[in-house]
Amino acid sequence: MVAFKAVLLIAAALGVSAQNTTLRYMPFGDSITEIVCWRAKLWEKLQSTEWAGVNWVGSGKTENNCKDTKYDRDNEGHSGFLAINIANNKQLVGWLKNNPADVITMHLGTNDIVQQGKSVTDIIAAFSTLVQVMRDSNPKMKIIVAQIIPMGLGSFNTQIQNLNKAIIPWAQEKNSTDSPIWVVDQYTGFSGSSDLRDGVHPNDSGDTKMANVWYPALVHAFEVAKAGKAAVRDVEVPFTA
Ligand SMILES: *[C@@H]1O[C@H](CO)[C@@H](O)[C@H](O)[C@H]1NC(C)=O
Ligand SMILES: *[C@@H]1O[C@H](CO)[C@@H](O)[C@H](O)[C@H]1NC(C)=O
Ligand SMILES: *[C@@H]1O[C@H](CO)[C@@H](O)[C@H](O)[C@H]1NC(C)=O
Repeated sequence: MVAFKAVLLIAAALGVSAQNTTLRYMPFGDSITEIVCWRAKLWEKLQSTEWAGVNWVGSGKTENNCKDTKYDRDNEGHSGFLAINIANNKQLVGWLKNNPADVITMHLGTNDIVQQGKSVTDIIAAFSTLVQVMRDSNPKMKIIVAQIIPMGLGSFNTQIQNLNKAIIPWAQEKNSTDSPIWVVDQYTGFSGSSDLRDGVHPNDSGDTKMANVWYPALVHAFEVAKAGKAAVRDVEVPFTA
């Protein structure tokens, strides 16, 4: 009995009893993450899988008339925000402190280009800062970065494509085993006219396309994140035996 109690104490000291293996996913971005329905569609798509119980996290709960009352609305989409400003103002630091995550998706850069004509170099530098913030929060953060969707207004798509091209070598350089970065292409196959409701935000057809692009990458990221957590448990079990 004494030995049994000692074992429990050791387990508590190691944090085993406090460990929660429910995965946490943060959808992070601007209005193309906040006032859209791809989050609802993606959540629905996951309900028939083992990832139905993943906890979506973030400070926002914006709903966009998605005609879906059930989905987990928590997200970190901020309409009008620039990647560069989020990085410079260290906003993601607090967002992740309040809502830690295992997996994060990022669709950013549209406002940098459209509102302020920022250079690809400066946007990519902001991405580097944001990835560092993610890894400071969780050294094993699984990161999915989008090559962003086209615009239907103005003539921004050349610059958007320049950013999208630069994302690949940047992600390869920043990649790591503990905290992989996967790039998904939200641009190719997305129509700047028939997939947007207002020239900027996806309509039903665009939301479906975006959900379908996120889906396989997100499922893979959940698998890798779960395997990582299981490995931590396996290491701790012999201590308690
Ligand atoms: C783990 O976290 C999830 C979601 O935050 C919660 O629903 C669940 O009750 C927690 N489980 C334990 C054992 O604390
Ligand atoms: C990063 O590494 C993972 C394997 O850990 C790989 O699947 C992924 O494609 C790599 N990312 C890039 C941008 O090359
Ligand atoms: C999406 O919006 C465009 C115009 O913005 C329209 O042509 C198209 O029919 C819409 N599609 C759907 C599925 O809402």
